[in-house]
Amino acid sequence: MELSYDYALDRDCTTLSRHVLQQLQSFGPEAQDLSAIMSRIALAGKIISRRLSRAGLVEGALGFTGDINVQGEAVKKMDLFANEVFIAVFKQSGLVCQMASEEMEKPYYIPENCPIGRYSLLYDPIDGSSNVDINLNVGSIFSIRQQAGDDPEQIGANLLQNGHHQLASGYILYGPSTMLVYSIGTGVHSFTLDPSLGEFILSSENVRIPNHGPIYSVNEGNFWQWDDAIRDFIRYVHRHEGYTARYSGALVGDIHRILFQGGVFLYPGTLKDPQGKLRLLYESAPLAFLIEQAGGAASTGVRPLLNEMPQYLHQRTPLIIGSKEDVALVESFIEERIKLDRDKLQVTP
Ligand code: AHG
Ligand code: MN
Ligand code: MN
Repeated sequence: MELSYDYALDRDCTTLSRHVLQQLQSFGPEAQDLSAIMSRIALAGKIISRRLSRAGLVEGALGFTGDINVQGEAVKKMDLFANEVFIAVFKQSGLVCQMASEEMEKPYYIPENCPIGRYSLLYDPIDGSSNVDINLNVGSIFSIRQQAGDDPEQIGANLLQNGHHQLASGYILYGPSTMLVYSIGTGVHSFTLDPSLGEFILSSENVRIPNHGPIYSVNEGNFWQWDDAIRDFIRYVHRHEGYTARYSGALVGDIHRILFQGGVFLYPGTLKDPQGKLRLLYESAPLAFLIEQAGGAASTGVRPLLNEMPQYLHQRTPLIIGSKEDVALVESFIEERIKLDRDKLQVTP
């Protein structure tokens, strides 16, 4: 039998940058840019993954910095490290003109990349930071948008667009293996980091989320802080067979499970935080774009999440995301309560 090296390469080694070009069916400048951006994101993922995998052995990798970020949350050393890794890989890339992250109050503007860099990157450098010190899964979330204009005065303001304006989004999951899952609007594709090659290699193409699944993923410790509608839904799953709870404390991990197995993730508003905890621009919207590309749905409870217009950079929003039927079921409980409240108002003189 004749051995073909081409065959070996095709079968084993579809790398991320090559995959982006294949998906866009083009070698044009836009496709080259997106491919290069994805390669940079992958590089950031590899550097973060390397540090996480040895964190217990490295001086200064774990624990808190002692600072509080713009969200009022205690910053971990790993949050800062990962934030800087993304900046370092994009700084001299000529690809991205501004970067906005959970860990920076204002967008990071890279004047030398403007107007050459026609893109903006929004990201959550470490999602699920509370898992870092106990060696459980964490992630990074990213979203790529077209840079609108090159007026430094407008920097930041032009990021305030709804989620349909995303060109690409995805996440990196640092688990037993490191995976990168992305969409550029042509379905959802997942890659696994082969540490021996130092490359993300295609592991599942065109991932489709089941229309319904057994998993519900929510922090039930907030039960008495939710609206009645969310409590109605939770009581429903408690009383019906076929549901199982999973909640890891890292959105990326929970969404990854639901993407492959079906179900629904919820972070609704609470008494303390009526808009919930998750940030629209660099947590909820990128995952909503991805899950919709896989055939699922994402909602604020009353509107499609991708329609939500941010008023400011670090805005939070309630999130209900996952399999179409399961998201619709949660929405139906919310609708029901809205109707009941409206009826009550009408009878009260
Ligand atoms: P981050 O670490 O980026 O602040 O995000 C943590 C988020 C999300 O990943 C997770 O689903 C949620 O916070 C957990 O919050 P609770 O502890 O309130 O359940
Ligand atoms: Mn997060
Ligand atoms: Mn984070």
